[in-house]
Amino acid sequence: MNYRTHRGFRVSEIGIGCYALSGVYGHKDQDEFQQMVRRAVELGVNFFDTAGSYGEEAEELLGKSLAPFRKNVLISTKVGVVEGTKFDLTSRSIRTFLERSLKRLKTDWIDILQVHFDDPDTPVQDTVATLEALKNEGKILQYGVGHLPPERALEYLEIGKPFSLMFELSAVSRSARQRFFPLLEKYEIKGIAFSVTGRGMLAFKSVPESFPPGDLRNYDPLFQRDLRASGMRVRQKLDELARNLGKTLAQVAIAWVLSHPQIICALCGPSTVPHLEENVKASGWQIPPEELRKLEALLEEEDKRLARERLETTTQILSASSSGETESTTLIYALDTLIELGFIKEKEGLPLYLRIMRLDGMPLNEKRGASQSIKDELLSYLNPV
Ligand SMILES: NC(=O)c1ccc[n+]([C@@H]2O[C@H](COP(=O)([O-])OP(=O)(O)OC[C@H]3O[C@@H](n4cnc5c(N)ncnc54)[C@H](OP(=O)(O)O)[C@@H]3O)[C@@H](O)[C@H]2O)c1
Repeated sequence: MNYRTHRGFRVSEIGIGCYALSGVYGHKDQDEFQQMVRRAVELGVNFFDTAGSYGEEAEELLGKSLAPFRKNVLISTKVGVVEGTKFDLTSRSIRTFLERSLKRLKTDWIDILQVHFDDPDTPVQDTVATLEALKNEGKILQYGVGHLPPERALEYLEIGKPFSLMFELSAVSRSARQRFFPLLEKYEIKGIAFSVTGRGMLAFKSVPESFPPGDLRNYDPLFQRDLRASGMRVRQKLDELARNLGKTLAQVAIAWVLSHPQIICALCGPSTVPHLEENVKASGWQIPPEELRKLEALLEEEDKRLARERLETTTQILSASSSGETESTTLIYALDTLIELGFIKEKEGLPLYLRIMRLDGMPLNEKRGASQSIKDELLSYLNPV
């Protein structure tokens, strides 16, 4: 395992996350997960990520598994999600949720406390003041911010001194490079990349058409339409490269993330020992420069093609006259495209996303009208009057 350093912290290139324990990727066996965490420590992983909102059991399991090695590992957990889609970064909320996390994780301190999501109602100055106070009290050693639009991340960087920005980055989800890398360089901080195997798209033996009910990937734009098709083309290229290099697809996918010096840690989400053991072997070697250059040229072409195709598809989706309600998955795809292509600012997108996610719980008679109104609103961003 190789390590990267930042502000005196020595972080393993591969980190392990506990999001899967929240059930987003289907049911996971807790004993197996615990074995995976213990094996990760043996293999040199020293960075473990969780969140209060992944469910009490996720933090408890991590606390129990890491207790014997606590001084030798770094734990990152997150605050700001009160429940579901309710966000609160007031001092009172941060302190309450941090205390709960400390207890569940069986530790007196958190190495990196992450702002999980934005709370537009709490000024960044106030959140930073709370986080700095917690640092002075020794309850946290560093803080980072995640899931923020770049303009909000910039506020944190201007006002506070975060250790890191956390964002999704994989060969099938590349936009963080344009959105966040300039900030990382200007403010001399590091990126923590998550979903580095594209939530499995760059690791599975084959990518299923759909996932069992309840799996969040059934809504995930990455697994729909043009994004899926583009992801599958990238997957094929990485797979060919992997075979030429004597590596696996997942190892090449993670090594691509680690080819960026701006990244301090590639956070993976395996839930079994064999998947972990495969993934950690992505550290300790590099994709040869000539192969990396060819891959980047291909990804640049893919970016252009994808932008063109997504715009066409989204225009069709939003312009089609529909007799029934538009499916949530389709609306999320359209919203994601409009954000990605700059028609909608990220901070305006979140409330729309939350409205779409609420559609599935609505009575049928309300759902049709609500879905049409979201569709009309999305269309107004695409074709402003
Ligand atoms: N996803 C997010 O929105 C998000 C946001 C903030 C932070 N994070 C942090 O980042 C961590 C990693 O994110 P993620 O879980 O989305 O990452 P990921 O590793 O890209 O996706 C996890 C999925 O990939 C599969 N997988 C991983 N390695 C595999 C391998 N070698 N072979 C076959 N399948 C493999 C896992 O299957 P198995 O379960 O079968 O191993 C699981 O279905 C999270 O746990 C969390 O701590 C995530």
